[in-house]
Amino acid sequence: MELKKQTVLVTGASSGIGLLVAGKLHENGYQVIGTSRNPEKHQARLPFKLLPLDLNVDHSIASFGKHLFSEIKTLDVLINNAGYLVNGLAEETPIELGKQQFETNFWGTIKLTNELLPYFRKQKHGKIITIGSLLGLVSLPYVSYYAASKHALEGYFKALRFELNQFNIKVVMVEPMSFKTNIGESGTVATGKNIADYDPFRKKVVAYTQQTFEKAPEPAPVIDALLRAVREKNPTFGFPVGKGSSIILLLQHFAYKLFEKSILKSVNASK
Ligand SMILES: NC(=O)c1ccc[n+]([C@@H]2O[C@H](COP(=O)([O-])OP(=O)(O)OC[C@H]3O[C@@H](n4cnc5c(N)ncnc54)[C@H](OP(=O)(O)O)[C@@H]3O)[C@@H](O)[C@H]2O)c1
Repeated sequence: MELKKQTVLVTGASSGIGLLVAGKLHENGYQVIGTSRNPEKHQARLPFKLLPLDLNVDHSIASFGKHLFSEIKTLDVLINNAGYLVNGLAEETPIELGKQQFETNFWGTIKLTNELLPYFRKQKHGKIITIGSLLGLVSLPYVSYYAASKHALEGYFKALRFELNQFNIKVVMVEPMSFKTNIGESGTVATGKNIADYDPFRKKVVAYTQQTFEKAPEPAPVIDALLRAVREKNPTFGFPVGKGSSIILLLQHFAYKLFEKSILKSVNASK
């Protein structure tokens, strides 16, 4: 008897983690649909279908369900991957940039999930895997709005998990540390409103952030965690990923001052 191919939707499948996980799932026999704001730019080099989706545009999200279900009959897994990074010191970041960060990472993800939930409820099964970040569980300087948007996702999806349990819809977050993708280049840096008081600290934290990007490993462990989350019948809620992530979480929980001291020490040592 031939087993039915599971269907997986991966948002932001043109680059980085989304591109890799979509490719891997396709290789493993899943039916994969990806999304991009510019599918025509990427489709030719991809073995899976890309549909247009811009999380910042309401009508793009509103028409997405119909478009998706003209391509597929059922959706087993939604991977909410699309997102980007705003860097900058909190006080120097214009509120508008912070709002845009939430518009994509938080509201865009929620709006798309809402658009697809009626289909999941009707099927009475499904899985929603959202890529948060370790920065949704701990925070660092220079990423205040990004970390806030990822913390907000944690709170939202924890609540949703309770509510969807009755429909056999599983809700999971994958929470990676820093990995090498295009997130550094595709993101935004808040500039133009420098406050002189921060000059020495800004210099160090920019160097620290740059070094974090440079030292970041390839994202294979994130792809493994995502595959595990897709395959497990009853996955737990959170999948932190990255070397040292468990220690960081333990430190933050049981020895916050030690955690803070070690981050400030690393930032201050950066040149
Ligand atoms: N890399 C890391 O270290 C890391 C760590 C923790 C969490 N994450 C999370 O992992 C996810 C993927 O990031 P990545 O590192 O793989 O970055 P990436 O290489 O920059 O890829 C981002 C993807 O998101 C899509 N995207 C961006 N803005 C969008 C929008 N407004 N609407 C629809 N799609 C949009 C892009 O697609 P198009 O440009 O084609 O539309 C692209 O495919 C993000 O949620 C990020 O926060 C990354």
